[in-house]
Amino acid sequence: MGEDSGYEEAYGGIIDVHAHVLPGVDDGAEDMDEAESLLLSAASQGIREVIATPHYSRRRGTDRARLQELAAQLQERMNRHDPQFRVYLGQETYYHEELPGRLKEGQALTMAGSRCVLVEFDPSVPYMTLSRGVRRLTEAGYVPVLAHMERYLCLREEDRIRETARYGCVMQMNYDSIRGHWFQPEVRWCRKQILDGRIQLLGTDMHRMDFRPPEIREAVRWLSKNLSRERFEDITYRNAERMIEGREISL
Ligand SMILES: [Fe+2]
Repeated sequence: MGEDSGYEEAYGGIIDVHAHVLPGVDDGAEDMDEAESLLLSAASQGIREVIATPHYSRRRGTDRARLQELAAQLQERMNRHDPQFRVYLGQETYYHEELPGRLKEGQALTMAGSRCVLVEFDPSVPYMTLSRGVRRLTEAGYVPVLAHMERYLCLREEDRIRETARYGCVMQMNYDSIRGHWFQPEVRWCRKQILDGRIQLLGTDMHRMDFRPPEIREAVRWLSKNLSRERFEDITYRNAERMIEGREISL
């Protein structure tokens, strides 16, 4: 990356925790070639590990063996380019009342086999519903990771992010949301959440080469200029590493 880009020379590489990269299973990559192109682009930007998070489909259920097989095939493709690159399997689960049960049955997947669950809600979800969903997951023994937390209007009100974190919820934001200019209110809000320490994980939410391809360079440059080395490492890969290894992420 650029000469003035900060810390990226010194750390081991970024872990992307949100990626629709498994081919043919949701609105992400169409085939294995596109999945490979997405990951090569990600790798060229400093990403060294990715948790593939296809959408959980309530209607179709989860063919766990098929997802594992696709992740293994993609890993094999990446081995030809960089044997260090890792592909893990997770899922982006849309919250519904049966979700804790589906997770227990292995019908919905946690992140890389950990207790963490990437969970999304409707952007206009009432706060009570979101908060109850988060608590039901923690009561069932999981650690909810709120996918692209910047989308939920109900969290814009004072103190709600902190309160949701108190219920044990980890916050994930998309790299895309911190790209842009400080005079854009949305970008400014997202950056403030990061500066105030409310975000623990970042993800690309990559889909296809022509629709939301991975693009993290500008965001990483901003992060490296505005965070301490320790916070930069936590948010770009150390917290993801803790999640994968089943260690606690401090909120
Ligand atoms: Fe997603």
